[in-house]
Amino acid sequence: PITPMHDSYGRRIHYLRISLTDACNLRCVYCMPEDMHFRPRHELMTDEEILFLVQVAASLGVDKIRLTGGEPTIRPGVVEIVRGIASVPGIRDIAMTTNGILLDKLARPLAEAGLKRVNISIDTLNPDKFHRITRWGRMEDVWRGIRAAEEAGLRPLKLNCVVVRHFNDDDVIDLARLTLENDWEVRFIEMMPFGEVADFQQSNVVSFREIRERVEAVFGPLEEVGYDYLDPSRPFRIPGALGTLGFISSVTEPFCQGCGRVRLTADGKLRLCLLRDDEVDLLTPLRQGATFEEMRTLMRDAAFHKPWGHGLAEGLYAANRAMNQIGG
Ligand code: GTP
Ligand code: 5AD
Ligand code: SF4
Repeated sequence: PITPMHDSYGRRIHYLRISLTDACNLRCVYCMPEDMHFRPRHELMTDEEILFLVQVAASLGVDKIRLTGGEPTIRPGVVEIVRGIASVPGIRDIAMTTNGILLDKLARPLAEAGLKRVNISIDTLNPDKFHRITRWGRMEDVWRGIRAAEEAGLRPLKLNCVVVRHFNDDDVIDLARLTLENDWEVRFIEMMPFGEVADFQQSNVVSFREIRERVEAVFGPLEEVGYDYLDPSRPFRIPGALGTLGFISSVTEPFCQGCGRVRLTADGKLRLCLLRDDEVDLLTPLRQGATFEEMRTLMRDAAFHKPWGHGLAEGLYAANRAMNQIGG
């Protein structure tokens, strides 16, 4: 039987984001330092351990799983992990956040294994800037990935754009224009600070308000589309457009009141809030032989202690991990 878990503020915890690896085939400037080093394999959860923890989570009412990274598609066996998770009773939504580079080959097998949809990171439509932001990515690989995702029926398709001052703040116009002809959700994300690169991140945030003003200066006033307070993204539409625009305003207008999210890091820690250091180690007890019931109690108690929200407004940010070690 499924018995839902809640935190001490009464929020139901039902959305688990699982980082499959901290490694990545890109090095986006807002995500990690260029000389980032990655964890050795034995520190990461195995496929079986991931599946076991998903079963535990599902028994506590988790019904939505998102696979993240680093870059989830570079994990060997990712298709089989998706297949395993899709077969767990109670899981109704499995999605992935990816840079799209490997989707050309993987979109179809992932969809066949049960993946429902993907959110693809794309911060500019300009190939030179793309290369600059990702430090070595090729724009055409992402486009191939987007096309493959569409052909595989991974819908609705969302595109994530982290807006970084002096890198891509004027690219929001071209990205917004994509929604005129495509039934996609293009989401503009305020850059959040983490660990070593926090100074860079904090001094180059572009606010929701500024992005909205830039877009409205070109396309006219945006229409609000029904907002679900459980979602990080606030949706709008350019009048007449096929797709929508979303704004994720973590820094200037936090949305913690609707947060039902917890995260499982690739090294098996339950991270209770994206922007706080609080974590509970699940992998160590699991490896020491804890039973399903014991893991269940551990996860439920951990989730109960989820902090209310982040402290960015007071200048506090998460210092123990870089973004690629959390998965967003
Ligand atoms: P959907 O299921 O499609 O709504 O996906 P999502 O928006 O939850 O996931 P995605 O990985 O695409 O995240 C988009 C952006 O929102 C990333 O920058 C995330 O870091 C950010 N984000 C997701 N969840 C949270 C959250 O709980 N708090 C904050 N502050 N940001 C979040
Ligand atoms: N702030 C906000 N979003 C970020 N992402 C990566 N780093 C940051 C950051 N510092 C985005 C990625 C991806 C999602 C998981 O989070 O672009 O779309
Ligand atoms: Fe890699 Fe994603 Fe970070 Fe970019 S945002 S460096 S694609 S993990």
